[in-house]
Amino acid sequence: MVVFVAIADSLAGRVAYSGLKKGVSGVGTQMKIKKVSKAVFPVAGLGTRFLPATKSIPKEIMTLVDRPLIQYAIDEARAAGIKEFIFVTSRGKSALEDYFDNAPELESELRRKGKTDMLEILKDTNMDSGAIAYVRQNRPMGLGHAVWCARRLIGNEPFAVLLPDDVIAAETPCLQQMVEAYAQTGGNMVAAMEVSPERTSSYGVLDIAEDMGSIVRVKGMVEKPKAADAPSNLAVIGRYILSPKVLTNLNRIKQGAGGEIQLTDAIAEETKGESNVFGYRFRGQRYDCGSKAGFLQATVAFGLARPDLRDEFGVYLNDMVAMQKAAQ
Ligand code: UTP
Repeated sequence: MVVFVAIADSLAGRVAYSGLKKGVSGVGTQMKIKKVSKAVFPVAGLGTRFLPATKSIPKEIMTLVDRPLIQYAIDEARAAGIKEFIFVTSRGKSALEDYFDNAPELESELRRKGKTDMLEILKDTNMDSGAIAYVRQNRPMGLGHAVWCARRLIGNEPFAVLLPDDVIAAETPCLQQMVEAYAQTGGNMVAAMEVSPERTSSYGVLDIAEDMGSIVRVKGMVEKPKAADAPSNLAVIGRYILSPKVLTNLNRIKQGAGGEIQLTDAIAEETKGESNVFGYRFRGQRYDCGSKAGFLQATVAFGLARPDLRDEFGVYLNDMVAMQKAAQ
């Protein structure tokens, strides 16, 4: 049986007595768990699956209804208590920096016209001075390398990583769920979801040591395995809470699958010996907005979820489906 014995607050952070099953982690092991207040947003990828659009538009600025993908990720991070936002960018991504800056001319024009509702909408895009930092990845050498580029800004504390092209619709935002679970486990935590066997080759897949329901203890991770080689059907998606040790591991990681420096490999190092890596089965629906099909699915789902669009859009979709059926 899983027992999370006691969680007490201390000034330095939280002190948790993690009793994750006797004999596995040792009941009563005392760990100091620091609060997660920094998040890294790797946005330096080329976004080739969306060419030609991504020739001049960063993928993360593409919109679901009327909000760019990056806004969903920032909102999720804020809800989880993140205070410092670190963007790993590259050439051609300046639209992202502008998006989070003040827009004095636009704002004064809206104020002059009395468009207070629009001004309210813009508020979400304004970040406090100094809350957001940008660091460059000068070549797209993979997700692991992108996170490593942020090492000096992260320092020696746990941090979250959010991939903005994974958009997660959830009652409790996914990272918030993870922060709550992490307060019990510490270590490293990756968001995980079940995938069908033919899809394992698109993900990092968890080798499970111990299944405790929403949390699993991980004994290994395999990047993009074929169905026959996959240790489970629990795949890692783009939300992580990581210890600074992962950054140290990235220092010496050699290039992994696909010639890129994989974040998965650096996390997998922490599964050796007594693993402190956990998978978290989040509650919610994840959309892979890095792929065209996923982006279109998300557009439909988010369009139908909007009270101002639901009726008109729903009727249109029904008509489309009816027409498709009639044409078959
Ligand atoms: P993807 O694997 O989706 O790569 O990266 P990509 O370049 O964005 O898109 P495609 O595959 O060419 O269409 C997942 C996340 O990691 C970031 C991306 O910006 C995206 O948020 N990333 C990837 C980096 O920041 N740097 C890299 O070298 C690779």
